[in-house]
Amino acid sequence: MALKFSIITCSDTRTLADDAAGAALKELISKEGHELVDHLVVKDDKEEIKSEILAQVNKGSDIVLTCGGTGLSLRDVTPDATREVSDREVPGFGEAMRAYSMQFTHRAMLSRATAGQIGTSLVINFPGSKKAAVENWEAIADQFEHAIEMAHGGKHEQAK
Ligand code: MTE
Repeated sequence: MALKFSIITCSDTRTLADDAAGAALKELISKEGHELVDHLVVKDDKEEIKSEILAQVNKGSDIVLTCGGTGLSLRDVTPDATREVSDREVPGFGEAMRAYSMQFTHRAMLSRATAGQIGTSLVINFPGSKKAAVENWEAIADQFEHAIEMAHGGKHEQAK
């Protein structure tokens, strides 16, 4: 099932031209046969992030991937913005990303990444480095299609 994705990179310093993590996610999205709705960069500003997440959901995105701003710097506010715009939190994505990522670096525990559901769409936080973004995709990508089917009222088949 082809899904619609948006990528919102949250960074005070990055631009679209040097957003290596966003570019890597974009490549993975297209490799899996999914569609990209938008790829943009916003500042580490909670209100800006919140309004862009909602704009992407309103454009019909099934999955909005945020990239960066999940750490402990006081400017890192992406998970907080995600919680504030979500109808409910979906904590399993963050848990799975951290558990999988601990094999690569114990710094994975410093990520506050979470996910949320807005109507039938999902918002999922990714870390901001290219390596980390790719590793975190590996951790959770096999559940994207089933998650969106379930959000649309689908039934569980045999668990994978
Ligand atoms: N997860 C994986 N798989 N690989 C990594 O290199 N880096 C960590 C963590 N998660 C990392 C990772 C580090 S160093 C930080 S600070 C946090 O993600 C938060 O990153 P962010 O602030 O760019 O979102």
